[in-house]
Amino acid sequence: MALLGNKKEKTYDTGDLKVPVSLGVIMDGNGRWATNRHLPRSAGHKVGAENLKELCRNCVRYGVKYLTVYAFSTENWARPQPEVDFLMKLFVELFDKYDEELAEEGIRVRFTGDDSELPKKVREVCKTAEERSKNRPNMQLIVALNYGGRREILNSCRQIAEKVKAGEIDPSDITEQMLSDNMYLPDVPDPELIIRPSGEMRLSNFLLWESAYSEFWVSDTLWPDFGYEHLTQAFRDFASRDRRFGGLSK
Ligand code: FPP
Repeated sequence: MALLGNKKEKTYDTGDLKVPVSLGVIMDGNGRWATNRHLPRSAGHKVGAENLKELCRNCVRYGVKYLTVYAFSTENWARPQPEVDFLMKLFVELFDKYDEELAEEGIRVRFTGDDSELPKKVREVCKTAEERSKNRPNMQLIVALNYGGRREILNSCRQIAEKVKAGEIDPSDITEQMLSDNMYLPDVPDPELIIRPSGEMRLSNFLLWESAYSEFWVSDTLWPDFGYEHLTQAFRDFASRDRRFGGLSK
């Protein structure tokens, strides 16, 4: 089987671990990784992007079906313009450059977020990447781009409000399920596990609605150094979590 990246095939550890069907990853720490090496922050983003390929490859091998990664938040526009420009350029370059490898791995690419504010070129690349990968069977890679959890919830509320305004439904008909159905990608299951490298203990506006019962796993490792061992440890720890969903242990 073809591999993403140039790494040698490894033996995948399957004992005592639980692989989530739907996984979220906040790819944090690129800037610090670069600064620690006296490199520009952009170097960290480049290595971070390469590392996404490695994560995809490992997730496919483990059998994850939906991998949602936080690439650019609705708040990231506040970064210095050259950094924003660099990230946008990276997105444009990478989805073309990686497509062959993603295809070999059977990875379908989708995007979530508010695309109306993205540069035209980025929107075009996203559309092409979605279109050409839509029949790939192994895993969905969902890239959160100009994504904000609050904005997603707001957007869902607005869509429902339009139905109320049109007289199609009454406010008392609104259910949690209806809000879920009006999120950006309602067919994607809520993440069972969210991983955040780099030591920060917060969600940063990632999948706010969908993470109501997600398990969290954090590590001090910065995203560019996050590898197979960390992922495996996260899945091992996930196996021992007692997910009660507000109820009692079975
Ligand atoms: C957070 O690290 C990282 C980002 C805001 C960008 C994430 C983007 C990539 C890894 C590239 C992804 C590429 C594709 C193709 C989707 P940070 O800059 O906040 O790091 P810091 O907290 O150390 O400053």
